[in-house]
Amino acid sequence: MSSTDTLIDNANSGCPFKAQVNEALTSTTTIRPTGTISPPPASESGSEDSYVPPSPKKSCPVVMCQEIDENLLRKHLPSRIAYLTDYLNFGTDDAEAISEVAPMVHEVIPEMVDGMYAKLFEFDVTKRIFLQRNQGFAGELPKRLEDLTLDSPQIVFRKVFMKSWARRVLTADYTSDTTWAYMDKVGIMHTGASPFKHQKALGIAPLNVPYRDCALMLGHVLEVLQTAVFSIPESKIPLQNKIRAVNAINKVIWIQNDLFSRHYIKE
Ligand code: HEM
Repeated sequence: MSSTDTLIDNANSGCPFKAQVNEALTSTTTIRPTGTISPPPASESGSEDSYVPPSPKKSCPVVMCQEIDENLLRKHLPSRIAYLTDYLNFGTDDAEAISEVAPMVHEVIPEMVDGMYAKLFEFDVTKRIFLQRNQGFAGELPKRLEDLTLDSPQIVFRKVFMKSWARRVLTADYTSDTTWAYMDKVGIMHTGASPFKHQKALGIAPLNVPYRDCALMLGHVLEVLQTAVFSIPESKIPLQNKIRAVNAINKVIWIQNDLFSRHYIKE
């Protein structure tokens, strides 16, 4: 089978880049063995005036079209993580970029977590979830929404766990399956299931938080972390590295988002 046949097969197989493939096949564009599309040399295409330089590193997605087993994506977390990280190009560069800024972003975490709870207390739909007893908390619980404050013992207690999640975003070992498994469990535990052993052992009532609110909170977290990174003085981290770090954090938050949404959405 020729490489063109392969492309036609791929083009007809539901690949989202079908239109680009067809265009590539019907034009005089040459598909180079490296998988990059380049225009034909000026001598083949006629006048030099009509030559439009390609945008840098324009790749032919079809040559690289990977076969993804959707069943594995649903059932096998490492396969899903491989797909997510591949799709977002999340790699060691990203982990390094986050590590570089982490010591200077750490100090905003307590304030960020205070802000997260303040945000959740702005709306009754998110605030009322904290009227239920949370895991490991044995103290007094207010009965009325208006009696629940940001200083309530259960909220102070909860902030410890939220800080631990935020610190993990900045310091996690992203080459370890354990990191992603933890983030996946964080997602599951908001859906009414109890993925953590200690929750089951303590007989904690299931937590049901609408996906909507988890996604919005991730958006809020992203804003705080991005601002913190960009506020690092230029003398400590150059702008280019701050941009790399912000992009990397953005990818982690979107992966965490998927590890929430996949437990809510029936794909
Ligand atoms: C950025 C989005 C969110 C993240 C990353 C997150 C993360 C976490 C983490 C790490 C825990 C503790 C898990 C453990 O036991 O170790 C937790 C528990 C909890 N979260 Fe979230 N959460 C998010 C959004 C929300 C929202 C929007 C609400 C409510 C509207 C919420 C309500 C709760 C409650 C009530 C608990 C305590 C559950 C229990 O132990 O009974 N979370 N969350």
